[in-house]
Amino acid sequence: MGADHSTEPGIPIPGPVLVSAEDLANRVAELGARITEDYEGKSPLLVGVLKGAFMFMSDLARAIDLPVELDFMAVSSYGHSTRSSGVVRIVKDLDLDLADRDVIVVEDIVDSGLTLNYLRKNLLGRNPASLEVCALLVHEDHKLDEKILKYEGFRIPPKFVVGYGLDVAQKYRNLSDIRVVEN
Ligand code: IMP
Ligand code: MG
Repeated sequence: MGADHSTEPGIPIPGPVLVSAEDLANRVAELGARITEDYEGKSPLLVGVLKGAFMFMSDLARAIDLPVELDFMAVSSYGHSTRSSGVVRIVKDLDLDLADRDVIVVEDIVDSGLTLNYLRKNLLGRNPASLEVCALLVHEDHKLDEKILKYEGFRIPPKFVVGYGLDVAQKYRNLSDIRVVEN
């Protein structure tokens, strides 16, 4: 993509790069190596949360040297568009059964943590053998229990970011780096 993304009026423009493509690649490789080690002899099931996690999920899966399986779910949170209310609706559920599986939930970003909190409870109710979370980005002011965040990419300031799967108004998911949105 070129430098000018201001094609539609009213949609904020990506500003400075917060996490470069190179730093993303290095960190994803590290996370993949840790997961490979932690799940040795197992076949973890990666559960990607659409749409934001699609790019992270695809890179992470390739960085894990295990016979992983992949599934996806889509959720939408009610309320304000850039702040989730904690009331989460499952728009697309998983195809696979989680019973006795080693599940790793792959999320793009933890903001308040409400979405992940809801998802975790919902998925734990399906009796997995284990359930861990792998979040690429975590806002510093999240309200989630730290213990829940087993694998995380980067702690970032509480600013709205786009790129590498993350959007504002469905735009900028295809940027290769993470950028702060200026409004
Ligand atoms: P939470 O429930 O407040 O943790 O919000 C989590 C969800 O809101 C994420 O899965 C994203 O879809 C979205 N979100 C939160 N912060 C951002 C951001 O900075 N950029 C893009 N999407 C975000
Ligand atoms: Mg999301």
